[in-house]
Amino acid sequence: MIPASRLSARFVSGTASRSMAVAAPTPNAERSVPLSKKPMQKEFKIYRWNPDEPDMKPTLQSYTIDLNQCGPMILDALIKIKNEIDPTLTFRRSCREGICGSCAMNIDGQNTLACLCRIDRNEAQNTKIYPLPHMYVVKDLVPDLTQFYKQYKSIEPYLQNDNPPEKGEFLQSPEERKKLDGMYECILCACCSTSCPSYWWNQDEYLGPATLMASYRWIADSRDAYSAARKLKLQNTMSLYRCHTIFNCSRTCPKGLNPAKAIAQIKLELATE
Ligand code: SF4
Ligand code: SF4
Ligand code: FES
Repeated sequence: MIPASRLSARFVSGTASRSMAVAAPTPNAERSVPLSKKPMQKEFKIYRWNPDEPDMKPTLQSYTIDLNQCGPMILDALIKIKNEIDPTLTFRRSCREGICGSCAMNIDGQNTLACLCRIDRNEAQNTKIYPLPHMYVVKDLVPDLTQFYKQYKSIEPYLQNDNPPEKGEFLQSPEERKKLDGMYECILCACCSTSCPSYWWNQDEYLGPATLMASYRWIADSRDAYSAARKLKLQNTMSLYRCHTIFNCSRTCPKGLNPAKAIAQIKLELATE
């Protein structure tokens, strides 16, 4: 089993509780939902698997909640189910505003962030929620991202320059700085890498779109002096060239980034050197 220490960087709902002040209900708060509003019953089918019951196969468990008593996002529904129906339901979340990347999951067939994904209000249609695909599962909606982080670490994602300026900071022109736009915003949610068929089949060797875009973020940084060494590390058949330009990664990124473009840039730079 995965030790709890490996999960501590991001909050795992189900193994800890967030302390928050909860105001006592007041008559006004109770009236905040108009009495005339009819319940809007919506079914969620959620992937369940418990490592403490290894002989049990994964199942889809059904939960129905009233959308008129719930916030608008999938994460709101998950929190409501956990708080009011089934405290054993386990998922990661922290910021609830698309910044931490921890609530990435597969919702109705699309990898995305639960906190940025609106609930489909069509009551006739259920919503299916799975963990990110083709990853080992720690529990329920929590994927094991150990390999993903190991790959990120392997590209040395920090500024490297043996000749820092004697005084002050590294300077960059506005044009040089602009080259990092569309890459530095990545929150490492892994939605892109886990939507990439090449990553599904070769994730022990292929770095995948998130890590490759992080690599290019440093290759393109005018302050970094290790661009040639960074590119050399990618010059083999597996790390980079397993990308077949399928574009699933860019289509699914919940932050609207374009990792496929960054990968194409690396290939171009390697081909024209
Ligand atoms: S590129 Fe987008 S999908 Fe991929 S890890 Fe970064 S934020 Fe997530
Ligand atoms: S463009 Fe490359 S990295 Fe993106 S999904 Fe396709 S194969 Fe994967
Ligand atoms: S909870 Fe942080 S990105 Fe969704």
